[in-house]
Amino acid sequence: MTAELVKNIHWVGFVDWNVRDFHSFDTWRGATYNSYLVKDDKTAVIDAVKSPYVENLIKNIASYVELDKVNYVVCNHAEPDHAGGIGELLKHLPNATLLCNTKCRDALAGYFNNIDSWKIQIVANEETISLGKRKLVFINTPMVHWPESMFTYIPEDELLFSMDAFGQHIATSERFDDEYDLNSVLREAKSYYANIVTPYSKQVQSTLAIAANTPIKIIAPSHGLIWRSHVADIVAAYKKWSAGNYARKVLIIYDSMWESTTQIANEILNGVVSVSDGVDARMFHVRKSSLTEIATEMLDAAGVAIGSSTLNTQVMPQISAVLTYIRGLKFSPKFAVAFGSYGWGAQAVDILEKWIKETGWTSIANPIKSKFRPTPEHLIEAKNAGSILAKNAIEQTKETIKF
Ligand code: FEO
Repeated sequence: MTAELVKNIHWVGFVDWNVRDFHSFDTWRGATYNSYLVKDDKTAVIDAVKSPYVENLIKNIASYVELDKVNYVVCNHAEPDHAGGIGELLKHLPNATLLCNTKCRDALAGYFNNIDSWKIQIVANEETISLGKRKLVFINTPMVHWPESMFTYIPEDELLFSMDAFGQHIATSERFDDEYDLNSVLREAKSYYANIVTPYSKQVQSTLAIAANTPIKIIAPSHGLIWRSHVADIVAAYKKWSAGNYARKVLIIYDSMWESTTQIANEILNGVVSVSDGVDARMFHVRKSSLTEIATEMLDAAGVAIGSSTLNTQVMPQISAVLTYIRGLKFSPKFAVAFGSYGWGAQAVDILEKWIKETGWTSIANPIKSKFRPTPEHLIEAKNAGSILAKNAIEQTKETIKF
């Protein structure tokens, strides 16, 4: 299963059909680890694959070129989903020199104990290496996704190997954006951005500024479909996501022991939908929802109601996981309200309120706390809070992102 991007540049990676957990990212469509072969007077492999699949990579390379004819292996990123197989790959490419930046070499030294035996050539930012008719240009993109991250660009083809950036977790026999449902590709790219890239949005903006001055016909990421027909769409999406723009959307995220907190959540939802003007309300019971999906929706949500019953003086365990995950992802600050029920101590709502403040979000209504079942007054309070969140989402919305 290979594909030609342009003449003599081939996809030689691996489709991981059955991966469903990518270090906690729910990859319900599977994933790919994209590797590319550039054949010219000299031949280069761009990135490797996860270590269990390196044999497939070697087989794919060998279908195009004798292995001792490969001159270079470029390592754009040291994370093991790409570089995990690089040691084994180099064993099979006796004449290949590894091209990477200094930080990448240091990271690889942390994963492999034999890199002293590898032929390594350090490349500087914007350095160029000629393959013959084509050149490889290396562009450092620190923190998109790790400190050593780098793009490789071929000016003659206006082709950018963008490593994790612009990627999506989709396993498919198709290789290009115009061979797959575009809305699904953009949705998975959004999920990838939300769950992997969001903390580095500032660095993404710096990278987009560089890209703006670079003609790009094809973006070949390390995961998922290759962008050749919708380059402008994915670049525009990255601009929006990295700017932290809000959509007209309110999330209600909660857990409940005996459904009292659920009743409040439902009434907040009623408050949101009572406001017209197309506010999109999405409700997640956290024990029945995927963290990956919650984070994807969080990326552009304007408002968030977050609720938990009090359990042993704390929030409920899966709410705790949500709080940890969402804070780490450093989304644009949300307008929020805390809610929950309790029996004899209302600590959960206090914890949620404190979390909202410490995360830099804005409490937009008083916390709602009910002792056991919510009273009619609590439910009115909840409906009002939903309505305030929705009206604020309308006020804050610069434009609606539909995918
Ligand atoms: Fe796909 Fe940051 O590795």
